[in-house]
Amino acid sequence: MRDKIQQIREKALAEIDKADGLEKLNDVRAAILGKKGELTAVLKGMKDVAPDERPKVGQWVNETREAVEKLLDEKVKKFEAEALKRKYEREKIDVTMPAKRSQKGNLHPVTQVKDQLSEIFTSMGFEVYEGTEIENDYYNFTALNTPKDHPARDMQDTFYLSPEFLLRTQTSAGQIHVMEAKKPPIKVVSPGKVFRSDDDATHSPMFTQMEGLVVDKGITLCDLKGMLDQLVKKMFGKNVTTRLRPSYFPFTEPSVEVDVSCFQCHGKGCSLCKGTGWIEVLGAGVVNKKVLEGCGIDTNEYSGFAFGIGLERIAMLKYGINNIKLLFESDLRVLDQIDDN
Ligand code: PHE
Repeated sequence: MRDKIQQIREKALAEIDKADGLEKLNDVRAAILGKKGELTAVLKGMKDVAPDERPKVGQWVNETREAVEKLLDEKVKKFEAEALKRKYEREKIDVTMPAKRSQKGNLHPVTQVKDQLSEIFTSMGFEVYEGTEIENDYYNFTALNTPKDHPARDMQDTFYLSPEFLLRTQTSAGQIHVMEAKKPPIKVVSPGKVFRSDDDATHSPMFTQMEGLVVDKGITLCDLKGMLDQLVKKMFGKNVTTRLRPSYFPFTEPSVEVDVSCFQCHGKGCSLCKGTGWIEVLGAGVVNKKVLEGCGIDTNEYSGFAFGIGLERIAMLKYGINNIKLLFESDLRVLDQIDDN
């Protein structure tokens, strides 16, 4: 009996020793210690052993089982540790490897300009009013002192939707809505799309304006000039100043074109300012009394100034874009280069 047990033990330990994986170990465990295992069979045969031999045989069996289990457990641990090590090796991350670049979106240049201007104006106490793109003739022209057959209507080639309705040619239409809805003091800017039948390197049939309107007691052209100087310094740089040139708009009197000193050459003359040292940026003026009166505002008490800024033009100047089409083509190679926010 002793020899038999010894044989089982040696065979088991040898098999465990040469086992090459967890599966093989499980097979050995079943073959020796399992229900139908060889060692289990010895225990089952105990009834045929002489009673006084039984304790001894029992002890040999136990010793053998312990030895087999011990070696099995050691081997299992070893294989598991190796498997874990292989897993770590496989999943190793090289933190020094360059990261994949993710594509970052940004705002359209005109939106960037609009946001910058809105921020400057709101910091000066302006409210933002957004009008509608479809207007009727009254708001876009008549109320702005441009009645039918007024020659100034030719300044803006209009898209009519019907004899009455049109796509607004200027955000100035919003001035009237604001003055009808609000009593002075009024201080609003109004950004939005405008439409004119116009198409070349610097004009697009749809473009964006930002209108400004201030109505209060004692407002003069000086207030306009003072505000514009602050504005252009914030927008184009500390050393930039403005100059006013006489112009004509039916809804302002006097009317002016506003130039900024060239922020590229600082007045010396360059290609951006076409050698003049100045760049035209917007139209403005003192609100025509007829316009205020038409909105029920007492011109003995109140006066105002208004201005209209073309945002595509500002974006083109600021970011060195030479053709307005580049702002409408959605070419990411162009748009990606302009990130001011
Ligand atoms: N509405 C004018 C234009 O589109 C600009 C402007 C606005 C001029 C307000 C004076 C005052 O050309």
